[in-house]
Amino acid sequence: MTIQRRTSRRVTDISKSAIHEMTRLSKEVEDVAFLSWAKPTSGTPGHINEGAIAAIRKGLVGAYSETSGLPVLREEIVRKLKRDNHVDANVAQVLVTVGAIEGLAAAVMAVVDPGDEVILPTPTYSTHIRQVVIASGKPVLVPTIEEEGFLLDIAAIRKAITPRTKAILYCSPSNPTGTVFSEQQLRELAAVALEHDLTVITDEAYEYFTFDGHTHFSIASIPKMRKHAVSCYTFTKTYAMTGWRVGYLHADEELIPQITKAHIPFAICAPVVSQYAALAALQGSQDCVATFRDHYRTARDLMCERLDGMTSVFAYQRPHGSYLMFPRILSNAGEDSATFCKRLLKEARVSTTPGVAFGPTGEGHLRMSFCVPEDEINKAFDRMKAFFG
Ligand SMILES: Cc1ncc(COP(=O)(O)O)c(C=O)c1O
Repeated sequence: MTIQRRTSRRVTDISKSAIHEMTRLSKEVEDVAFLSWAKPTSGTPGHINEGAIAAIRKGLVGAYSETSGLPVLREEIVRKLKRDNHVDANVAQVLVTVGAIEGLAAAVMAVVDPGDEVILPTPTYSTHIRQVVIASGKPVLVPTIEEEGFLLDIAAIRKAITPRTKAILYCSPSNPTGTVFSEQQLRELAAVALEHDLTVITDEAYEYFTFDGHTHFSIASIPKMRKHAVSCYTFTKTYAMTGWRVGYLHADEELIPQITKAHIPFAICAPVVSQYAALAALQGSQDCVATFRDHYRTARDLMCERLDGMTSVFAYQRPHGSYLMFPRILSNAGEDSATFCKRLLKEARVSTTPGVAFGPTGEGHLRMSFCVPEDEINKAFDRMKAFFG
C-alpha cells in the first residue's frame, strides 16, 4: 500500500516543518551558535515547581480534572483576563488546554468546516497554517506590510474576504517578526470581522513581552467582539513553562462547549500536575515575568546592534515584542532562504530558521531568536561577521 493510500489527505498535504528540520541538522554540527529556537532558555521559576511538587505530595494529580480544567485555576484565569487583558470573562468562558497550541487546534476544528477559508496575515507561525489544513480548511495568506514593521494590511484583508471566509487567525506579538499589532489596527480588524460576521482566533502567547512603550491589546476586550473572538493564551512563554504543556482559551459561553467537543478527543484535559503549576504561577510573584522581559529587551538591543554592523548582509525591522526577529537577507545571491540557512549552519556554524517556514512572504528572510544568553548572540554574530567578511 502506498503512503498516500495509508494516510489522510489532510496530513499528507502538510509540508515538513522547516523548524524541526533545522533543529535536526543543527544537532549534527559541533558547538553550534543556536538562534533558531523560539523557546525560553531559562528554567521554570522555583515557586512554580514547588506548587507542582506540593500537589503531587498531596496526591492531587493522579486523576483527570474536569475537561475544562480545575475550577480554582479557571477562577484565577478569569481574574488575570480582567486585570491584564481587560476581558470581562467568567469561568464558563474559559477552557484550560494543552498549551496554546492545542487550544488553537481545538478552536480551528470547532470553527472551520472543510473548504472554509481562514485569513492569516503573513509571515506567521507556521503551525497556524497547518492547523487550518488539518481542519480541511483553506489558509488564505495575506502579506503584512514589511516596510512599516510588518503591520496588518487591513485593505488587503478586506479584499481577501470571499463568501467562504470563516475566520481570521493571527498572533500578536508576532512569531516570527516581533511585531505588536496596535490597538488601533486591531480595532480596524475587529470592524472588518463584525461587518462580515467572521470569528477572530488569536494567539497571544507573547502577550507580556513587549518593549519601547508598545503594549499588547486583546481584541476580545472590545465588547462587540464577545461572540466573534476566541483568544488563546499560554503559560509556556510567560513563565518559561515550555514542557509543562498548559495554556487556556477564552470564548463566549455558547462556543466554549463546542470547542470542548474538539478538545476532548485530543486531550481529555490538560495535564493535572501542570494545572497546579499554572495555579502557582498565577498566584505567586510576577517578578519573574518582568525579569524575562528585561532580559529579552537587552538581548533584542544587542541583536539589533550586531545587525547594524552587518548592513550589507541583512536589513531588519526592529521588533517591539516576542523574542524573535525576521531580518531580510541582502547577500543571498539568488539562494532561497532554506539553502542560505543550511549554508550558514554548515559553513559558519550558526543555526537560524529559514523565512519560508512562515509562509511564502517569508522567503528571503531568516528568523533569529533572541531568547538566548547574550554570549550566544555574540558568538553567532562574530561567526557571521567572519563568514561574510
Ligand atoms: C506564536 C506561538 N504560539 C504558540 C506557541 C506554542 O505555545 P504552547 O507551548 O503554549 O503550545 C509558540 C511556540 O513557539 C509560538 O511561538
